[in-house]
Amino acid sequence: MTQRRRIQRLIGSLLLVAAAGVGGGEATADSGTDGRSGGSAAEPEVRPLGHIVPVPASVAPAGEPYSLTRHTRIGVDDARPETRELGRYLAGLLRPATGFPLPVVDDRAARGGIRLRLSPGDTELGDEGYRLRSAPDGLTLTARAPAGLFRGVQTLRQQLPSAVERKSVQNGPWKIAGGTITDTPRYAYRGAMLDVSRHFFTVDEVKRYIDQLALYKVNTLHLHLSDDQGWRIAVDSWPRLTTYGGSTEVGGGPGGFYTKAQYQEIVRYAASRYQEVVPEIDMPGHTNAALASYPELNCDGVAPPLYTGTKVGFSSLCAPKAVTYDFVDDVIRELAALTPGRYLHIGGDEAHSTSHADYVAFMDKVQPVVAKYGKKVIGWHQLTGATPAEGALVQFWGLDRTPAAEKERVAAAARAGTGLILSPADRTYLDMKYTKDTRLGLAWAGYVEVRRSYDWNPAAYLPGAPADAVRGVEAPLWTETLATTDDLDVMAFPRLPGIAELGWSPAATHDWDTYKFRLADQAPRFDALDIDYYRSPEVPWPAE
Ligand code: ACM
Repeated sequence: MTQRRRIQRLIGSLLLVAAAGVGGGEATADSGTDGRSGGSAAEPEVRPLGHIVPVPASVAPAGEPYSLTRHTRIGVDDARPETRELGRYLAGLLRPATGFPLPVVDDRAARGGIRLRLSPGDTELGDEGYRLRSAPDGLTLTARAPAGLFRGVQTLRQQLPSAVERKSVQNGPWKIAGGTITDTPRYAYRGAMLDVSRHFFTVDEVKRYIDQLALYKVNTLHLHLSDDQGWRIAVDSWPRLTTYGGSTEVGGGPGGFYTKAQYQEIVRYAASRYQEVVPEIDMPGHTNAALASYPELNCDGVAPPLYTGTKVGFSSLCAPKAVTYDFVDDVIRELAALTPGRYLHIGGDEAHSTSHADYVAFMDKVQPVVAKYGKKVIGWHQLTGATPAEGALVQFWGLDRTPAAEKERVAAAARAGTGLILSPADRTYLDMKYTKDTRLGLAWAGYVEVRRSYDWNPAAYLPGAPADAVRGVEAPLWTETLATTDDLDVMAFPRLPGIAELGWSPAATHDWDTYKFRLADQAPRFDALDIDYYRSPEVPWPAE
């Protein structure tokens, strides 16, 4: 939290205490945090079914609510270790604020409780869908696969009062509206990218972001692991990449890098939140950190100095040199061995210091290396200037003013079978300033207010691209100007939940005028999770 907001909250809580006439010793259960009890006064005791983000595909309210009590048990299928683990995760979410024991027990012993059930025959639920049934005599989550139960747990969590997110015991009641939600995602790829190169973020900071993404049903964490300013992943065969190339960052700070064990810890943590990690090594441009670490990677054999500024487009691996491909093979082999996910992102953007012929030759050689190590290619959409490999996905990061010919080149690749991830910079780039007054961020793609980032249709975005080529959306968070988790928070929130909803919810539900109220109702949840966010004037936030 920024100092300014801390002071605002302190003043707010003093006013609240004064208004309530509460003496010094008689504060609410919550006053240690920000002086509120159970979120904002505007929050109802029972949240209407489906009044969450992303909005569920189908909501059928019915009957009285389910009540969580100190006697509630969480029932799981004991024979399935993943469901037991999900039961533990759910109990871990609910215990601190409720103070209830919430034992995780075999399904048969959980009558009247919360039950997590796998039903592989429920084909309409797909890989990540779930059904939630809530009634006074019990709450049941059903899914075909553990990933679906995990997404359903996020729904259950958001249906509860936001005070459930707090880390100390709060007053209930803890009710979930009665009825049935049946929910499946619109897109299979729902991503968020974190740039750990321009500024380095620790394993714990990345885990915090993973948990924020989980709440909004994001399923892919793209890590931008290398750039001009820093190389962040250990490669045993080229150790100076990290010991030297990882030793700084934008502004000249100490940078940092992940050991292989630390990277694997991130991958494991993401998997526990049902997120697939897509690691990116950006090539052939955006490579100054590597070029500085090994002179032989440079066409002239001379290593440039480390770089801590924010220019782009000045560096390139040396496409004609054989050693370049030894290097790429080693890096991709070692990274693929650490990565259980399907994809490796090879960058390919802003290669302004690579000739077109070199770029094409480079991509023709490098993409088969990715395949050799069992992975599929993702590249920024400039990869369509070469020939995307079979099964590759390209990530479009252009904007409204991107020349029509460039958009058409991407659309043509999509018509030829290349899948698309949509990250239009003037909609989804979380590092763009909201307005001219935003303290952090960049503005090269314009200002991106909350409505603008939400109010577009991925299926109809790129003229000439078949709707079924669109595999999903991703919200990149570049960190030239962002150095702390508070900085990440205030740029990601509240735009990230909107991009997550674009990825998850059916097109027919897409409507700013209803979304803005559901988003506003996330505010006390952001507060409870200590997420600093931008209070956009476009959103009818509850009073602070
Ligand atoms: C990018 O923003 N250069 C992908």
